[in-house]
Amino acid sequence: MRETQSKQMRKPIFSQIGVQLYHGDAMEVLGEMPEESADMIFADPPYGLSNDGMSVHAGKRVSVNKGAWDRSRGVEADFAFHKAWISACRRVLKPNGTLWVSGTYHSIYACGFALQSGGWHLLNEICWYKPNAAPHLACRMFAASHETLIWARKTKSAKHTFHYREMRRESGNWDFLKKANRQMRSVWGISEEEDVPTTAWAFNTPGRSEKVHGKHPTQKPLKLLERIVRASTDTGAVILDPFCGSATTGVAALLQKRKFVGIDASREFLEKLAIPRLDAVLCANAKFSGEPSNNDHTCENSQLTLTLRTDISQGSI
Ligand SMILES: C[S@@+](CC[C@H](N)C(=O)[O-])C[C@H]1O[C@@H](n2cnc3c(N)ncnc32)[C@H](O)[C@@H]1O
Repeated sequence: MRETQSKQMRKPIFSQIGVQLYHGDAMEVLGEMPEESADMIFADPPYGLSNDGMSVHAGKRVSVNKGAWDRSRGVEADFAFHKAWISACRRVLKPNGTLWVSGTYHSIYACGFALQSGGWHLLNEICWYKPNAAPHLACRMFAASHETLIWARKTKSAKHTFHYREMRRESGNWDFLKKANRQMRSVWGISEEEDVPTTAWAFNTPGRSEKVHGKHPTQKPLKLLERIVRASTDTGAVILDPFCGSATTGVAALLQKRKFVGIDASREFLEKLAIPRLDAVLCANAKFSGEPSNNDHTCENSQLTLTLRTDISQGSI
């Protein structure tokens, strides 16, 4: 990270070699970070879809509410929020870095307009098709079964990273739409259920081994983040997630030998989900490399980490 900093940087609540987690409001923490210090930013901001509606999960009626943090504050206020965090990210991103933003129709248009009006150059709009999405209960409209990811660079002349050949090579084990040795297209079929290999960017929602520490209400599947990390960053890159939740981005970053900086306003998500997940990967990596784990790293969940590492090496997560 570069030296220049606008404000005194707060202390991370978790810090190990290659990983830092910060608790606090994304705009505030981003404002303390050194400018042009991140190679890639993946942002999964609140979608504002917690409107007291009902959905279905595992055959049961459930509330769509994710938490107070996910309530819409109205079109204008939501847009102002997206504009503010996107502008804060622009300062922290390196000139040739890229920003990924995920959302549904509740939020993605506001994010897209904030990017366009902020001078970003849009590279792609990815449709992540979710084969196992919940049915629509009222049967008065189509069942929403995808999320949108926007991939953007700071300027049209920026030299962004894209591992074209690796993406082209990828076979469709986890994506029923991807054919090996054909260009990767902008519709991804990744299932949210990890134990259901598909032959689509149709990734399912996160599977069992991704929830061993509990589950974040909007946790992204690891396969989705792994692809994003591999496609748009080099080994050793600094990846930042300003709304990291359970740190799926961080897990993907560490598994791919990148560095990770995560921020979340919820101490509970960080302590109960993000830290144990990242710790598990750090311990597994240390065990497999035969090197002692760093600092105060206790690796208490060694059985868990070995299971996780075995899953990783067998390609099941
Ligand atoms: C959609 S979730 C991200 C889930 C994450 N991608 C994962 O895989 O676990 C959004 C996260 O943003 C956090 N959040 C909401 N408002 C925030 C803010 N102003 N600053 C930082 N984090 C915020 C919430 O606590 C929540 O964990």
